[in-house]
Amino acid sequence: MADLQSEFYDAFAMREEGNELPMLFSIRDEAYHTQVRKPISKDYSMSAITQYEHQVDTMISDFISCLVTKFDRNNDGELFCEMDDWVQFFSFDVISQITFGQAFGFLKSGSDLFGFMKLIEDRMDGQAPNAALPRFARLKHRLSLAIRQRDEFEAPFAKFVLSHIRDREQRNMEGKPPTNSNNVNGDGHKDGSDFLDRFLEAKARAPETMDFSWLWCYSITNVVAGSDTVAIPLRTIIYHVLSNPGIHQKLLSELRGANLKVPVSWDRARQLPYLDAVINEALRIHPPVGLGLERVVPETGLRLPNQEPIEAGVLVSINPWVMNRRFDVFGDDSDVFRPERWLKSQTESGGEYQSRLTLMRRASFVFGYGPRTCIGKHISLFEIYKCVPSLFLSLDMEIKDAEWWTWNNWFVRQKGLNVYLRSLDLGN
Ligand code: HEM
Repeated sequence: MADLQSEFYDAFAMREEGNELPMLFSIRDEAYHTQVRKPISKDYSMSAITQYEHQVDTMISDFISCLVTKFDRNNDGELFCEMDDWVQFFSFDVISQITFGQAFGFLKSGSDLFGFMKLIEDRMDGQAPNAALPRFARLKHRLSLAIRQRDEFEAPFAKFVLSHIRDREQRNMEGKPPTNSNNVNGDGHKDGSDFLDRFLEAKARAPETMDFSWLWCYSITNVVAGSDTVAIPLRTIIYHVLSNPGIHQKLLSELRGANLKVPVSWDRARQLPYLDAVINEALRIHPPVGLGLERVVPETGLRLPNQEPIEAGVLVSINPWVMNRRFDVFGDDSDVFRPERWLKSQTESGGEYQSRLTLMRRASFVFGYGPRTCIGKHISLFEIYKCVPSLFLSLDMEIKDAEWWTWNNWFVRQKGLNVYLRSLDLGN
C-alpha cells in the first residue's frame, strides 16, 4: 500500500545509519506507524493522564509562586512579566516532569536552561521550509553531508534524554524505586511514576520488537511535540482575554463564583462552561499547528462532498487556520475572538444549538484527524483547563503591550506578550 502521508513529513524524520527511527509523527508507512503507536496509545488516554494530576498541580503552584516572587506589583511598581516566555517555561517543565519524573527547571531558573527552547525553535525554522519543499530539502541534506555539517540539535537533547533512560534502567535493574515516590495509587502505579515508566513497561511486554531507540523516540517526541503546543494556547488565552474587558469580566465572575481551590482540579475545571468556551475559541482562532496536514490521495481516488473527483496520487491538505475561519461553519465574525459562539444563544433552540456545535466540532482540525490524530491531545487539554483558571484566580493581570507578533514554523508561535500582574489573596 502506498503511503498516505506526503513527503512533507520527511523533513521531521530522524535516521540512524540510514534506518528510520520510530518517531511517531514522521513515519509515513502506515503499518509501521500502527506498530509504533499501539504499545503506548493507552498511556495517553484522559484517565491515564489524570494520574499525573498531583505532579501538574505542583508545577502550577511553582509557576504562580515564581511569577509572584518576580513580578508582583504589590511589591514593586513597574516590573512587567514576559508572559510569552513564562508559559513556555511552565509547559516545558510540566512535560519533562511527567515524562522523566523531573522538571527541566526552567521555572526555577527563569530562563531557557541549556538553550533547549531556542534549539527546538531554530530546528523548526529550518524544518518548515524543508517540509514544504522536499526536493530542495534532499539537496540541502546531500550538501550538508558533503561538508560534514554537524546537526547541533541532537547533541544536548540526546544527552539529556539518554541519561534519564539509562539511569531509569539502572535503577530498575537494582530494584530501586523508579522515581521519586513509593506510594501506590488506586491504579497500581507509583505516585511519582511517569511516561518513562510506561515506555519501559511497553518495552518489557514486547522485547523482541522494541529496542532502545523506541524509548528514546517516545521520550524525545513528548518533549518536542508537547511543550510549545501547550504554551501557544496559553498565550492566546491570556492575550485575548486581557484584551477584551467584557470577556475577562465574564470569565472572572464564573471562576470566582465557583468556589474553586488553586490549583484548580481537572474535575472542577471541565465543568465550567465559560472557561470551556474560552479554551475552544482560543484553539479555533489560533491553532498551534499552522501548516497544511498533507496526504496523498490513495489508489481508490477521492470524491469531495460536492462530488468532484480527485485522482490518485494528488497531494491534498487541510490547514487548521483556514478551516477554522470558515464563515459557513463558525459564523460571519469568524475572524473575531468570541467565546460565546460555543454557547447556546438566547435565540436558538436546544436542537439548533446541538447541530451548530456538532458542525463546529466536526470541522476542527486543530488536533488533526483519523489514525494520525494528536496522541497528546489529552495532556494538553488537561494542562490548559487546570492552568488557566488557576492563573486568573491567583493573579490580577493587565496587558502591557496591545500588540504581539507571530510566525509560523509549523507551530504558530507568538512573541511580545508583556503583562503586569498583582497577586490576589485567595483565602483558601
Ligand atoms: C494544544 C496542543 C496540541 C495541538 C494543537 C497538537 C496538534 C497536533 C496535530 C494537528 C497533529 C497531527 C499532525 C498530522 O496529521 O500530521 C499532532 C500529532 C501529534 N502530536 Fe500533537 N498537538 C498538541 C499537543 C501535543 C502534546 C502535548 C503532545 C505530547 C505528547 C503531542 C504529540 C503529538 C504526536 C506524537 C503526534 C503524532 C501522532 C501520530 O502521527 O501518531 N501533541 N498534534
